[in-house]
Amino acid sequence: MSSKRSSFTGKIGFVLAAAGSAVGLGNIWRFPYLAAKYGGGIFLLVYIALSVTFGFSLMVAEIAIGRKSGKSAIEAFGSLDKRFSFLGWLAALVPVIILPYYSVIGGWVVKYFFGFVSGSAGAMAQDSYFGNYIGSVWQPLMWFAIFIGLTAVIVLFGVEKGIEKVSKVMMPILILLTAFIAIYTICSMDNAWGGVIYYIKPDFSKFSIMTVVAATGQLFYSMSLAMGIMITFGSYMKKDISIEKSAKQIEIFDTGVAFLAGLMIIPAVYSFSGGDEAALAQKGAGLMFETLPKVFDGMPGGTIIGVAFFFMVFLAALTSSISLMETIVSIFMDKFKLGRKVSCLIVLGISVIIGVPASLGYSAWGEVKVLGMQLLDFFDFASNSVMMPIIAFLTCVFVTFILKPNTVVEEIELSGKFKWKKLYEIVIKYVAPVCILAILASSVLDAFGIVKI
Ligand code: TRP
Repeated sequence: MSSKRSSFTGKIGFVLAAAGSAVGLGNIWRFPYLAAKYGGGIFLLVYIALSVTFGFSLMVAEIAIGRKSGKSAIEAFGSLDKRFSFLGWLAALVPVIILPYYSVIGGWVVKYFFGFVSGSAGAMAQDSYFGNYIGSVWQPLMWFAIFIGLTAVIVLFGVEKGIEKVSKVMMPILILLTAFIAIYTICSMDNAWGGVIYYIKPDFSKFSIMTVVAATGQLFYSMSLAMGIMITFGSYMKKDISIEKSAKQIEIFDTGVAFLAGLMIIPAVYSFSGGDEAALAQKGAGLMFETLPKVFDGMPGGTIIGVAFFFMVFLAALTSSISLMETIVSIFMDKFKLGRKVSCLIVLGISVIIGVPASLGYSAWGEVKVLGMQLLDFFDFASNSVMMPIIAFLTCVFVTFILKPNTVVEEIELSGKFKWKKLYEIVIKYVAPVCILAILASSVLDAFGIVKI
């Protein structure tokens, strides 16, 4: 990639940034609410099963495509086969949809951080607080503007390195704090142990196709797959570094953080609902914001913990939003030969155009529904349950018929034996394409209300 990109000059810098960007709101905000909603233990099981099969295979394939072509996603597919150029463009569109609503949630995080700083911990622990907050028009818009504005300023001035350094120090602390909050809730709250069991023990009667649909979307989202990110990441990887090991490390780390976040939130919700599992299935995107302030409220030193926690989640979200924006900005710079400033402004403009409706979908535009979904949910659905499966499917087709699975194997074996080669081959050639198509079909049929799953 061109040296115009001020951010990732060193190869190692990019590798670290890409790995760091996998952990974000996807793990801490999105995973727990999906796990609560889609049956707890069964969701966790399906998620882990998908991550070692689909997730692993797709990740090594994407990294190998990137490293072999030495190009970013938008060029990689086309350079290996002209007919697949569109796939690079399609992949590039995903961050464009994610960034705006990601920033709306990022805004909620900033709001809660300042809420704890200003001593409103008690008020935030009230049942109606979150609903009232997102139901108001201006406040969420303002925090969204602050979050996306900050992201844009950082990308514009190319100062993400500093933020990433801070975030790297904070990330282990965030993990420890999450583990601490989880242990605290489990040990101190009534019924919390029942929540742990709900979260860990699979109840097969709760299984439905939607469990698989949700887990697959979450897998792509959390591991930043099926959007070209890992291809770009691979293009910066040295030939002697093991793709297989790196992929496994990213997966274990990313899943570990998500698992802990679930353990922090689900037993608490279970306890607050008095052990009512049906109440968990009703939970949505607000889960983390509704639950944690209540936990902190009952905790000694809860305000300080709330401040620290929301600050670190904010940093994790910010590094992800920076990397999402940087990805789009660099496409504008490379493909349309625009300057960094103009590109940033355009991306900011697009994000506001999509982000404002996503935020207003909870208040003034509450009546506006697309396929029965609120606007934010719709953007989330369109990217994670429709576009990413399409891209993942086409990537499998590309690897199987154009690139040939063996090319990926050869690329991986440049740095030693490919231990999970058989699994990879079977998944990429047969299992993934068939399952992904089935998943895509069910999510679309369900959304259009043709079949209720
Ligand atoms: N994986 C990130 C998370 O879990 C979100 C994300 C999706 C992302 N795509 C990305 C981050 C691309 C950086 C770049 O929060």
